[in-house]
Amino acid sequence: MKRRDFLKGVSLAAAGGALMGPAAGAAGFFDSPLASSLADSGNIEPVRGLAPVRPLDPVVSKPVKVIIIGCGNRGRTYSGYAERYPAGMQVVGVSDILEHRKNYIGDKFNVPADMRFGHFREVFACGKKLADAVVIATPDDRHYEPCMKALALGYDVLLEKPVAPSEKECKDILKMTKKTGRIVAVCHVLRYAPYFMALNEVVKSGVIGDVVSIQHMEPIQYAHMAHSYVRGNWRRAGDTTPIILAKSCHDLDILRWIIDKPCKSISADGSLRFFKAENAPEGAPLHCTEGCPHQKECPYDAVEIYTRLKQHLGVFDLQGSRDSDLIMSRLKDPRYDSYARCVFHCDNDQPDHYVANMVFGDGVTASFTMDAFTPVGGRRTRIMGTMGYIEGDMKEFVVTDFLTRKPKLWNMEIAEVPEYAKSGHGGGDYRLVRDFLEAVDRQDPGHLSSSIDVSIESHVMGFAAERSRRSGKKEKV
Ligand SMILES: NC(=O)c1ccc[n+]([C@@H]2O[C@H](COP(=O)([O-])OP(=O)(O)OC[C@H]3O[C@@H](n4cnc5c(N)ncnc54)[C@H](O)[C@@H]3O)[C@@H](O)[C@H]2O)c1
Repeated sequence: MKRRDFLKGVSLAAAGGALMGPAAGAAGFFDSPLASSLADSGNIEPVRGLAPVRPLDPVVSKPVKVIIIGCGNRGRTYSGYAERYPAGMQVVGVSDILEHRKNYIGDKFNVPADMRFGHFREVFACGKKLADAVVIATPDDRHYEPCMKALALGYDVLLEKPVAPSEKECKDILKMTKKTGRIVAVCHVLRYAPYFMALNEVVKSGVIGDVVSIQHMEPIQYAHMAHSYVRGNWRRAGDTTPIILAKSCHDLDILRWIIDKPCKSISADGSLRFFKAENAPEGAPLHCTEGCPHQKECPYDAVEIYTRLKQHLGVFDLQGSRDSDLIMSRLKDPRYDSYARCVFHCDNDQPDHYVANMVFGDGVTASFTMDAFTPVGGRRTRIMGTMGYIEGDMKEFVVTDFLTRKPKLWNMEIAEVPEYAKSGHGGGDYRLVRDFLEAVDRQDPGHLSSSIDVSIESHVMGFAAERSRRSGKKEKV
């Protein structure tokens, strides 16, 4: 297949646009692997022969009845599955402490008044099961209690990550899952994305020999960092979880999955370098909406990010609107104006750069970096094997076999999975829901890519990384 044929392809053009963005023209880590490592090769064979990717509608005997607990961004995402595939999932109950959020999803699914709950405790107060499963999409520090209560009553659980803010609570949930024999699927959505599934399958096929080391990077993207980890809900580690779990527990899980050996030790470093008061330019007001004199030269300007670029609008309860005046009024509304705060005048403490080196079984090493200051998000991965090498950017990856020296390319076009493109996290969001529903329907956790044991293991890695970052010492896992 000629490189120019790929470049004509819609998905690649879209990927290239997103990836090249501000960095266009400069070869480097943010260009696609095609552009950076294969620019001069004439023919690129596609990776073939992988297991076909199944469509997203589930094979279930009857719709699985769920209660959505936490009707914010993630609750809306998972309930969206029921809209698209009503034969697989039925939303029969909702819970949120915010009336308008609870009713937004409740109205969509005609949930009766007695199944619309406020605090999650109301869901469990009657002491019996009201559905087959619950989706727990509350903030990080409010996963433990509803999960333990749901398991005690016999619900299966789709549990948002991070599982819980402490190692002890994570282990309690693991114990309770075993004790009750229920199904708990932790929302490690990347595992369910066709890209990572294919990457893992290629590694497991042995084509690159034994994996010896991995470089994995999570570029957060500067505006996403400002939104979630400086102004937003995850800005304070003590109120949620350390960023290595809040943002990167997916990545630790992916590394554990691909390497397929337990992590033995971890050493980490990183700090909050930029988003703090001492870096505020002179005269910057507390909120960007108060006529900041530095607005034009500040890439973190909230007015620009939300009203003009229209990014991260999910927190403003706009019910689908993208009207700039409405967004501006939200930025001035005390319920939402934390998002208008100057990035140098927030009460944040999460690091804006983080590195972790890990040693796995058989001496396999992995280095991970999480960086706020990048033009794009996603992931970048380089896998070094004894017989070959893989480089990928979460949209496509290139496999080079040292014997043939011929690179092979995988992307969504080659995998022929257009419907996955409509679901978040590279298609992982909906595929996770589908597998969870099938697991519940058959009462078989084997339908899930990640068992609760392995999910907890990668969380334990995150807690060890954070201990190491704070102590400056290498930590055993
Ligand atoms: N899997 C992923 O990739 C992914 C991505 C983003 C967020 N998350 C995780 O998903 C969870 C939810 O994140 P979000 O972005 O949807 O947050 P959100 O703030 O948009 O939604 C959380 C909702 O929970 C509600 N809530 C708070 N306390 C409650 C209580 N006691 N009872 C019932 N409802 C309550 C809030 O009012 C809010 O509507 C977090 O743990 C987050 O870290 C996971």
